[in-house]
Amino acid sequence: MTTEQPVRSGRGRSAMFRTKSVEQSIQDTEEPEHALRKDLSAFDLTVFGVGVVIGTGIFVLTGKVAKENAGPSVALSFVLAGIVCALAALCYAEFASTVPVAGSAYTFSYASLGELPAWIIGWDLVLELALGCAVVAVGWSGYIRSLMENAGWSLPQVLTGPHHGAFGFDVLACALVLVLTCILIAGIKLSSRVTAVVVGIKVTVVLIVIIAGSFFISGANYDPFVPPAENAGGSGGLAAPLIQLIFGFTPSNFGVMGIFAAAAVVFFAFIGFDIVATAAEETRRPQRDVPRGILGSLAICTVLYVAVSIVVTGMQKYKLLSTDAPLADAFKDRGHPFWAGLISFGAAVGLTSVCMILLLGQSRVFFAMSRDGLLPRFFSTVHPRFGTPYRSTILLGAIVAVVAGFTSIDVLAELVNIGTLFAFVVVALGVVILRRTRPDLPRAFRTPFVPVVPVLSVLASLWLMLNLPAETWARFAVWMLLGVVVYFVYGRRNSRVRQGERPVPPGV
Ligand code: ALA
Repeated sequence: MTTEQPVRSGRGRSAMFRTKSVEQSIQDTEEPEHALRKDLSAFDLTVFGVGVVIGTGIFVLTGKVAKENAGPSVALSFVLAGIVCALAALCYAEFASTVPVAGSAYTFSYASLGELPAWIIGWDLVLELALGCAVVAVGWSGYIRSLMENAGWSLPQVLTGPHHGAFGFDVLACALVLVLTCILIAGIKLSSRVTAVVVGIKVTVVLIVIIAGSFFISGANYDPFVPPAENAGGSGGLAAPLIQLIFGFTPSNFGVMGIFAAAAVVFFAFIGFDIVATAAEETRRPQRDVPRGILGSLAICTVLYVAVSIVVTGMQKYKLLSTDAPLADAFKDRGHPFWAGLISFGAAVGLTSVCMILLLGQSRVFFAMSRDGLLPRFFSTVHPRFGTPYRSTILLGAIVAVVAGFTSIDVLAELVNIGTLFAFVVVALGVVILRRTRPDLPRAFRTPFVPVVPVLSVLASLWLMLNLPAETWARFAVWMLLGVVVYFVYGRRNSRVRQGERPVPPGV
C-alpha cells in the first residue's frame, strides 16, 4: 500500500494542477454526512445504462439523419459512433473501477490531471447532462402530444414549446422534469426499480420494431445504400461540419462525409453509458460491477441500434422518413397504425427513464464538485432520511425544467455531443497519466493495450468532434470560457484540496 499523503500537490506544481489523490476521493465518500447509500449491483447498473442510452437518439434522430445526412448508411454511422464509445468505455471502465466515487470523469480527472482540468470537465459534464436531459424531455413531450392527438386531445400551441422562433413554453417537458426530480430525491433504490420497469417496456418496443418491421422491408429502399454527396446549399458557413470548413470542402450532405457527419449526431444515442460510472459510489462492488455495467449496456445498445436503423430504412425510403417519430411513422406508412401507436407509447415511456438518469448523473457531478468545495458545500449535504444529495437535485431539476420548457431540440443535441466527446478525450488521457503517476493503485479492470487504446480513443473522439458544425464549437467555447471564469472567482479559492494545502506558497 502507498503511504502517500492525500494531497499530492507539491511546491513546484501550480495550484491549478494540484491533484486530489484517489485515497482522498474514496475517504471523502465515507464521511457520514456526505456518504451516499451503497445499494446498486451490476444488473442495476446495466439497467441504468440501457435505461439512459436508448432514447431520443434511436427514436428520433435516426430518421432525421437518414433523411438529411446519410440515407440507409446511417447504420454505418451507428457502428462508427459505437466504436468511438467502445474505445471510451474501455477507458471509463478502468477509471471507474480505480476511483469508485461519484462524479465520473470529473473525479477521474481530479485524481490524474489536476484541479483546473477537473473543474473544466465537471462544468462540461453539467452542461452535457443538463442539456441532454432537457433535449430528451422535449422529445418525450412530442411523443405524448402525438398520443394525445390520437385520442382527440390537443394542447394550445403556446403550451407546446417554441416553434420557428415564436414564443412558447413546453409545459409537458417541464412537468416531466419536476416529477422526476421528486422521484430522485426519494432515493436511488426507488429510482432503479422504476427504471427497471421502464427499461423493460422500452427494450420490448425496440425488439418489436426490429422483428415486426423486418417483415415489411423492401430491398429497393436500400438503393442507393450510400447516397451520392449533395451540395448542402443554404446550410454552409458555420452550420457546416468544422472538418469541411478546415479542409475547404464545399459543405455537402450524404456520401462518405455524410456518414461521418451523421455519426457525430447519432452519437447522442450512445450518451449515457458513461453515466453508469457516476453511480460507482452507490455500487456494492464497484471494482467488479462498474466495468460490467458500462460495457454490457454499451454492447446491448449498439446491436439494437444497428438493427433498428437497418429495419427502418428498409421499411421506408430514407427521403420519406419522418423526423418526429420515424419508427412509429414507418409502421403507419406500411398501414399498421396499431403497431405505430404501441411504438409511440413505448418511446414515450422509454424517454422517461432517459430523462431521469441524465438528471441523476448531473446532480451527482454537481454533488461531487460541491463536496470538493469547488461549488458551495451547501449542495453536498445528503438527505438525512433518503440518503440522496437532495439540494443539488432540486437546484438542477428546477433549472432543467425551465430550460426544457423554453428550448428546441436540434442545436442542443449537438452541444451535448461535443461536450461529451470532450470528456472522453480527457478521460482517455487520464488513464495514461494515472498509470504513470499511480502505477501502484489496484485496478479491477485494466484498459487493454495502454497507451494504444486511449490514444485511439482520443483520436476517434476528436474526429467526431470535427464533424460537428462550426457554430457548435463556438457555443461550446463560450460555455467553457464561462466555466473558467467561475473557477477563478469561486472554485479556486474554496477548493477543499487547497484548504488542506495551507499555507499556500506565495504567488500561487
Ligand atoms: N442516449 C440518450 C438518447 O438517445 C441520451 O436519448
